[in-house]
Amino acid sequence: METIPFARPWTGKEEEEAVLRVLRSGWLTTGREALAFEAEFSAFLMERAAPGEPEIQALAVNSATSGLHLALEALGIGPGDAVFLPSYTFTATAEVVRYLGAEAVFVDLEGDSYNIGPAGLEQALSRALGPGIRPRAVIPVHFGGLPCDMGAIKDLARRYGLAVVEDAAHAFPAPLPGKDSPWAGTGGDAGVFSFYATKTITTGEGGMVVTRRKDLAERVSLMRSHGIDRSIWNRYTDPKAPWYYEVVAPGYKYNLPDLLAALGRVQLSRAMELLKMRESIAARYDGALKNHGAVILPPPGGARHLYTLRFRNPADRDPCMEYLRNKGIGTSVHFIPLHIMPYYKERYGLKAEEYPESLKRFRETLSLPIWPGMSEAQVDRVIGAVREAPAACGTGGFSA
Ligand SMILES: Cc1ncc(COP(=O)(O)O)c(C=O)c1O
Repeated sequence: METIPFARPWTGKEEEEAVLRVLRSGWLTTGREALAFEAEFSAFLMERAAPGEPEIQALAVNSATSGLHLALEALGIGPGDAVFLPSYTFTATAEVVRYLGAEAVFVDLEGDSYNIGPAGLEQALSRALGPGIRPRAVIPVHFGGLPCDMGAIKDLARRYGLAVVEDAAHAFPAPLPGKDSPWAGTGGDAGVFSFYATKTITTGEGGMVVTRRKDLAERVSLMRSHGIDRSIWNRYTDPKAPWYYEVVAPGYKYNLPDLLAALGRVQLSRAMELLKMRESIAARYDGALKNHGAVILPPPGGARHLYTLRFRNPADRDPCMEYLRNKGIGTSVHFIPLHIMPYYKERYGLKAEEYPESLKRFRETLSLPIWPGMSEAQVDRVIGAVREAPAACGTGGFSA
């Protein structure tokens, strides 16, 4: 039986040629390919910017985790600062706050959605306000590529003086609701995209920080490369003093090598094609499963990074997952909320029930494969197995 993996990157001849071109060029680390990738990424996002808006600068990094770290560092986040973020996310969103000695304050999901919103954020703010705590920033996460209500979050952030760093790891490209609206990730002080192997476009490992703020762009650029005042490429291409540089801050080693940037450039050129492929898989799932009594389908729109079913009876989730696994179909669970992870639970003395929506979503969701290149037959096999699972599992709660 052929197995259908949960995720699989879509790469072809052009990607292979791009990587070979760099391999043969003799320059493997960050250089002209990374610069071109940044310029092309910025141009892609600017196509949807309103006329006269400041340019979006794009800074390539070796992961979204390092990008989030750099963005918060550039905002001056440090000990005593509180950064608000969903409990329902991957640990990268929160760990970067801890790298800087600041405190993560978790926000529950808004109502029935997969994202945080203004009501939950305001509630978390009112609880967290107190002596010694400085609310400094919020990190909305566009779960599965579904855009958060950025208008409402930004309004609230403005009222409380919070910076906004969008975790857009899942959200490239994801238009905000509304015709010709800007892309998710471009509306805050900074946004961060991921090019990890399972993401919507990939460089294997990689990420991009985007910002319209010159001060943030300069700091991110400096700190991603050891806090050295000149990039290695700048030194290489300067005939006068290629060897001279100054260390002006204790930076990090977060640059994206050309080998990966070249891959990213090809993937970027295919971004809309890849989105259409994911959308067409989602449409097939939607059409075939809409009358399935046991599950709630994901909301439409966004980058379609994940296709997440919600089981009306959470007891059905694990048997269905098991059934699909036995049929050779890979699935996953997004996310195990951070507030029940041993580290965060103990550090902040959190109880599982304090974030009821995150806990509920964790218990009821199952992510199905949705990768470009899945054949119609593979999509149909997944649909067939999801439909058969109730009868086959016989858990009682399951009704198709
Ligand atoms: C919501 C979210 N944020 C950040 C990251 C980190 O991305 P990366 O692996 O590129 O560091 C991930 C990774 O899966 C993620 O799911």
